[in-house]
Amino acid sequence: MTSFNKRVLLITGGAGFIGSHVVRLFVNKYPEYKIINLDKLTYAGNLANLKDIEDKPNYRFVRMDICDFEGVLKLMQEEQVDGIIHLAAESHVDRSIKDPFTFAQTNVMGTLSLLQAAKTFWESQPTPYVISHETTVNVPCRFYHISTDEVYGALEMTHPEGIEPPFTTKASSGKHHLAYGEKFFTEDLKYQPHSPYSAAKASSDHFVRAFHDTFGMPTIVTNCSNNYGPYQFPEKLIPLFINNIRHRKPLPVYGKGENVRDWLYVEDHARAIDLIFHEGKVAETYNIGGFNEWKNIDIIKVIIQTVNKALGRVKLETSETGETIETYPDMDLITYVTDRAGHDLRYAIDSSKLQRELGWEPSLQFEEGIEKTVRWYLDNQPWMDNVTSGDYQKYYEDMYKGR
Ligand code: NAD
Ligand code: TYD
Repeated sequence: MTSFNKRVLLITGGAGFIGSHVVRLFVNKYPEYKIINLDKLTYAGNLANLKDIEDKPNYRFVRMDICDFEGVLKLMQEEQVDGIIHLAAESHVDRSIKDPFTFAQTNVMGTLSLLQAAKTFWESQPTPYVISHETTVNVPCRFYHISTDEVYGALEMTHPEGIEPPFTTKASSGKHHLAYGEKFFTEDLKYQPHSPYSAAKASSDHFVRAFHDTFGMPTIVTNCSNNYGPYQFPEKLIPLFINNIRHRKPLPVYGKGENVRDWLYVEDHARAIDLIFHEGKVAETYNIGGFNEWKNIDIIKVIIQTVNKALGRVKLETSETGETIETYPDMDLITYVTDRAGHDLRYAIDSSKLQRELGWEPSLQFEEGIEKTVRWYLDNQPWMDNVTSGDYQKYYEDMYKGR
């Protein structure tokens, strides 16, 4: 087994949205580590997300399904893997409603396969991860499972008009900065997943903890809120809407657009993952969030404004009082459609434990993050064209047909 400062890390799902940011961060920041990106390359996995680091000497890509227990075990043995950051998953709620089996297979069985492979390999080592629960803090290996805040279910919206701070960190969404209810997701909250996606993620979280409690596996779980930023597949709200606005296509707002999500810039999540992988306590759970709640309809309006400004589509008009005001012509693309089945009303994460214990907080104000994000998608049209060719049109028609 490698020494602590010369690690071999297996990152699963590294060709996806968040995974590619994590792989990039680790490959660039830790030239002394070997980073192995294991990814099946489903529709959501894209090696173009990693073009800038693919030739680095400390990076290796392996195309594999996490459900392939034998393959994963062999890879771990070959490479002497001593750390795992597990991101591979089916991640889109709407797809999980149409096809829950794939979600159970990858998210539950795939995670179990990885856990069992890690256990088998690490137990075979001369200094296995040795499991008395008191001594698992500084053991040389680590299984870090990336999960979602959606496992906690949905919070009530007790204050639809929003509560002003104080409830928050200083790093937050600047001008916006409201909470839509008194309660937040904390690490000790009971799991109450509602969608097949969140049910599968919840199940995988339970397996990870069970491997700690039963076998002493040095595990960590983090539950993060909605990420946004470059390289996100345009089935998720923000990249989908940026692309639709660009092409002046309708913006399908589910229900009344009143649902609330907490948004975190993806690079801030990657920074948290780096910190927690190195400094987090074994067997702990940390929530990661942006203290940045938005109603969907409000965030959609911000996206339209930002894209219209970037594309020079803003119009100047004279108000009744004679003032010159900016108007955004693409507001007329907003189209209310049938709600998502079982649509969770509000997610709001309390990440103060992470802030308190490890000193992490989001670095970007939301206004800055959304501008960077819009700019990135508009500047990277070939990336968007590449991922929206092929099966994408069919997906889009199937998902939104008759809504
Ligand atoms: P994503 O869908 O963009 O990427 C998932 C990646 O996993 C893809 O590269 C895909 O090819 C790969 N993959 C899927 N099935 C696989 C399999 N069977 N074997 C190997 N690889 C497989 O997802 P994401 O948004 O980057 O999310 C990454 C992780 O973070 C997931 O576990 C997700 O639950 C979690 N998460 C996501 C968010 C979010 O807002 N996107 C928030 C919190 C937590
Ligand atoms: P999404 O990006 O799918 O993330 P999640 O469901 O995991 O939070 O959706 C974010 C919010 O946007 C969610 O409340 C559903 C809503 N939404 C729409 O209104 N229209 C859409 O076309 C999509 C994809 C999402």
